[in-house]
Amino acid sequence: MDNDTQPTGAAPVLTIDGPSGSGKGTISRLVAERLGWHYLDSGALYRAVGVAAGWGDIDLADPAALVRCTFDTVVDFREEGGELRVLVNGSDATGELRTETAGAAASAIAAIPEVREALKERQRAFRQAPGLVADGRDMGTVIFPDAGAKVFLTASAEERAERRYKQLSDKGVSVNLSGLLREILARDARDASRAVAPLRPAADAVTVDTTGLDIEEVVGRVLAVVSQAGRGRSQQS
Ligand code: DC
Repeated sequence: MDNDTQPTGAAPVLTIDGPSGSGKGTISRLVAERLGWHYLDSGALYRAVGVAAGWGDIDLADPAALVRCTFDTVVDFREEGGELRVLVNGSDATGELRTETAGAAASAIAAIPEVREALKERQRAFRQAPGLVADGRDMGTVIFPDAGAKVFLTASAEERAERRYKQLSDKGVSVNLSGLLREILARDARDASRAVAPLRPAADAVTVDTTGLDIEEVVGRVLAVVSQAGRGRSQQS
């Protein structure tokens, strides 16, 4: 069967793509909870390979070694006390996954076509009843092109830098706002300009700009996209 063809009768999917700091993670988890659907944090898979590469002292400039590392890395998602924990090769790496180092390694690794190909089926395996909310960069364009509802979440780079600044300051990490803004702009440019699966909205995605909106307002808009898509389908059938 063609890899890009989804079986008919497959569970419904809502894809939420967008740049770092657009609030995708928070919004996707809340929307999945409200819908009672599964949740895929695809960025965590790339981050997990980045962390495993660090553990194995693998050079980020050695694509062949990174592809081998992708095949060798076992990633398990576990729900524990309402929190999602990520195990990398059996060790809890939830905290390490969120570090800037893991993010930068993930971004470099994500530019390798064979790595993306190796992770395709792992991501598609999350599509299970009653439905899936898939969070990432290429969920609507490459992994689930037939998803019934697609959202592209954005926010201005300044607002994303401020959110990240607040997150880190709340954790007691001292950071510099203009440095964060520079990092975000550099990451955006790298993710949007890579040859394979660049960050861009799917042609049929609804763009939601979260600048100046609070979490509940964004969740409401995303849920409206899902019910609108559901109405569209029932009118067609
Ligand atoms: O969403 P995140 O910050 O956890 O993602 C980490 C990196 O992984 C990011 O720089 C882009 C990459 N990524 C990707 O290329 N495709 C995805 N579906 C998810 C993440």
